[in-house]
Amino acid sequence: MGRQRVLSGVQPTGNLHLGNYLGAIRNWVEIQSQYENFFCVVDLHAITVPHNPATLANDTYAIAALYLACGIDLQHSTIFVQSHVPAHCELTWLLNCITPLNWLTDMIQFKEKAVKQGENVGVGLLDYPVLMASDILLYQADKVPVGEDQKQHLELTRDIVNRFNHQFAKDESVLKLPEPLIRKEGARVMSLTDGTKKMSKSDPSDMSRINLLDSPEEINKKIKRCKTDPVRGLAFDDAERPECNNLLTLYMLLSGKTKEEVATECADMGWGQFKPLLAETTINALKPIQEKYQGVMDDKGYLESVLRSGREKAEAIANETLTQVKAAMGYALPL
Ligand code: TYM
Repeated sequence: MGRQRVLSGVQPTGNLHLGNYLGAIRNWVEIQSQYENFFCVVDLHAITVPHNPATLANDTYAIAALYLACGIDLQHSTIFVQSHVPAHCELTWLLNCITPLNWLTDMIQFKEKAVKQGENVGVGLLDYPVLMASDILLYQADKVPVGEDQKQHLELTRDIVNRFNHQFAKDESVLKLPEPLIRKEGARVMSLTDGTKKMSKSDPSDMSRINLLDSPEEINKKIKRCKTDPVRGLAFDDAERPECNNLLTLYMLLSGKTKEEVATECADMGWGQFKPLLAETTINALKPIQEKYQGVMDDKGYLESVLRSGREKAEAIANETLTQVKAAMGYALPL
C-alpha cells in the first residue's frame, strides 16, 4: 500500500505570521517524510475578500518560496498554485450543487468576515469552504494539517463527502473522507495585542502579529510593546492570563524546549526578563527561514520550475478524481 496523502494550503494574502507557521507549515515539515504531500498556494481563496491585483502574483510566489524556506522538501512534497489547476474550480461547481446553503451560512469564519464587509460581501466568501473542500477532495487526501480555526471547514468537507457518496456512489465511495490533523500546541496562536483573539493577517494592526519576514528590529519592537499583565512569575494555562499563556507557548515552540522546561525556567521571571529572551529566541528561529527565503526569491527560474512540475503532478491526480466525480454524477464524458 502507498503512503497516505496529505493536502494543505495557505492564502497568499500578505505575509505569513507565526500563527500560520506554528499552526500549519511547521507541522507539514515535521510530518512530510511519512506521507505523500501536496501543498498549494490558494490564490483563488485570496480573492474572496477585496484584493490587490498588482501584488497577487508576487505574493503567490512569495508563499511558495516560504514553503521551501520553512523546510518543505520536494522529495516528499509537491508545491503548486491552486489557480494553475482548473479542476479546483470545476469540482467546486459540482459540489456547490449538492451543498445546502445553510451549511455555508452557518460557518463561523463566513459570519465573522461577512460582518467586516457589510453589504459588499461577495458570493465567493460564502463559497470559500466548498472551494476548500474541492482542494482536499481532488487529491483524495487522508490527512489535512491545519490550525484550529479550520476545524469547522474540515467538518463541512466531511459532510460534503458523505452526502456525495450517499447520493451518487452507493456501492463504492468516489470521494475519500479526510481527517484533520490539528496539533494541540500552536494550533491557536493569539494576537500580541489581545491574548483572547487569534493572530490574524486581517488584523489592521501589524503590532498584533510577528511576520516570518519581520526584521530583528521589528520583532524586538513588537515583543517589547506586546500586551502582558501585572502578575509576577509566569505560568501556563491560567485562564485569567491569556497573554501569558500565549507568550510562553511561543517561547516553548520556538526554542524547542518542553512545556515542563519552560514552566520551570520562567516560573520566577518578570516580563522585563522574559521579553528579551522571547525576542532573541524568535529572531534566532526565523533567521534561517529568512535567509533561505531570500535565496529562493533571488532565483525566480528555480521557483518557476518547482511550480511548473508541481502543477503537472497535481493536475494528473486532480483530473482523475474530477473524471470519477463527473462519471458518478451521470455526465456524458468527452470521448
Ligand atoms: P489561511 O491562509 O488563513 O491560514 C493558513 C493556515 O494557518 C493556520 N492559522 C493559524 N494557526 C494557528 N494560530 C493562528 N493564529 C492561525 N492563523 C492561521 C490556519 O488554520 C491554516 O492552517 N482556508 C485555509 C486555506 C485552505 C486550505 C485548503 C487549508 C484552502 N484550501 C485545503 C487546508 C486544506 C486558510 O485558512 O488559510
